[in-house]
Amino acid sequence: MSVIERLLQREPADGKGLSITPMRKRDLRQGIMEIEAAAYQVGWSQSVFATEIGQVGKGDRHYVVARRDGVIVGYAGLWFAVDEAHITNVAVAPMARRQGVARALMLHLAETAIAHGCVGWTLEVRATSAGAQELYREFGFDAAGVRQKYYDNVEDAIVMWCHEIQSARYSARLDQIREVAHV
Ligand SMILES: CC(C)(COP(=O)(O)OP(=O)(O)OC[C@H]1O[C@@H](n2cnc3c(N)ncnc32)[C@H](O)[C@@H]1OP(=O)(O)O)[C@@H](O)C(=O)NCCC(=O)NCCS
Repeated sequence: MSVIERLLQREPADGKGLSITPMRKRDLRQGIMEIEAAAYQVGWSQSVFATEIGQVGKGDRHYVVARRDGVIVGYAGLWFAVDEAHITNVAVAPMARRQGVARALMLHLAETAIAHGCVGWTLEVRATSAGAQELYREFGFDAAGVRQKYYDNVEDAIVMWCHEIQSARYSARLDQIREVAHV
């Protein structure tokens, strides 16, 4: 945040000023559970997060938090399965939305999946989450199918896939997104 923005108490409207660092168990009590509760009707419990973070050391998970001015404003995670990466969670605090936090997290996840050697990545998203689907389309994801009543036996999930993420074409797409994100 620039000096002027600090004086005006305004957040920058892009990915600038964010730090993205590995998720730690103590982060769960410092904002993550509140963001999760605001993001989903039935979200992950603290023990599900703890189990997921516990898998990071084995090399098949990757979890990060985004902070602005030291405050957790979002988080995201990946699960690696052979040469594919599955996005397990992306959520941003309501007060920090539409400021590029999820875009910055997704850029970080994309770079991580590519560095891990993945050739494609995938996710499930709520059929009603139009904003999230828009975000994923920006990163090259296309709808590939529907899992009926996937969420709490009620809401359908759209399965989205993005292939060939090691290609020069995908690298160029990420460069374009970085320009928008100013990161
Ligand atoms: C979806 C979510 C993660 C987006 O986070 P965010 O930080 O607000 O997203 P960003 O500001 O980085 O948005 C990047 C782009 O995604 C799209 N987008 C994000 N939210 C949107 C919305 N509510 N409506 C329309 N487009 C949206 C836009 O194209 C946006 O670019 P723009 O602001 O320049 O138009 C956030 O709304 C959230 O936590 N929702 C609840 C949890 C959830 O649905 N997670 C995803 C399920 S897997």
